[in-house]
Amino acid sequence: MTRPYYIAGNWKMHKTRSEAAELAKTLTARLKDGKHKYLVAPSFTSLETVGAIVKGSNILLGAQNMAAEEQGAHTGEVSVLQLKDLGVQVVILGHSERRHTYKEDDELINKKVHLALNHGLDVILCIGELLSEREAGQAEKVCETQTRKGLEGVSASGLERVTLAYEPVWAIGTGKTATPEDADTIHAYVRGVIARLYDASAAEKMIIQYGGSVKAENAAQLMAKENIDGALVGGASLKADTFVPIAMFG
Ligand code: 13P
Repeated sequence: MTRPYYIAGNWKMHKTRSEAAELAKTLTARLKDGKHKYLVAPSFTSLETVGAIVKGSNILLGAQNMAAEEQGAHTGEVSVLQLKDLGVQVVILGHSERRHTYKEDDELINKKVHLALNHGLDVILCIGELLSEREAGQAEKVCETQTRKGLEGVSASGLERVTLAYEPVWAIGTGKTATPEDADTIHAYVRGVIARLYDASAAEKMIIQYGGSVKAENAAQLMAKENIDGALVGGASLKADTFVPIAMFG
């Protein structure tokens, strides 16, 4: 089967509302004839502004994280109800910066996955090993554990609303990209994990994005690999001139 390519921009902690609006307007115009699936994930503070601009376009509105609880005394957190209220359709969970800088573990991420799916949001679940884990020959094991634990208890129908993003931590923001071959090896392995957890058809349908220093210069080679179904782009998603060539590849 042919899976659609899914290209997402994670704007991380960048851009004021006016800067975010300017980029969203440019992307809406320049991607309107794009043939892939698109998403932008601005900061919480720009979700409403960007949401109003991308509404009705072929660009989905994503959040970069959300709380594990629906509501309550959680100072500084943002709830699924608040995201839905802003028109958010997709939430990125388990990003390596959440795992490693903010110490989110698989159990917490799994709780967020369930909460998002139960409330009708789609999920991009990020997985990926540290450099030390890769050097110790543990990359596959780490990705398997994060996939299994992140998806624990998710039904087959829930899984249809989950995208996986393989982001090797050593490739994020470093300019070092995994080779297309190395990335494809992990993607194929993770697809096998999905086949074992669910079935062959679920594995075949699973979209697995690659993330980590994706640029216009390497996007096409990465995406040419059988198991690489798109990209989760950080730095290069912050400017239309660097994101559009990735989004319009092929
Ligand atoms: P870079 O593209 O800046 O390496 O970031 C990747 C990433 O973390 C996207 O979520």
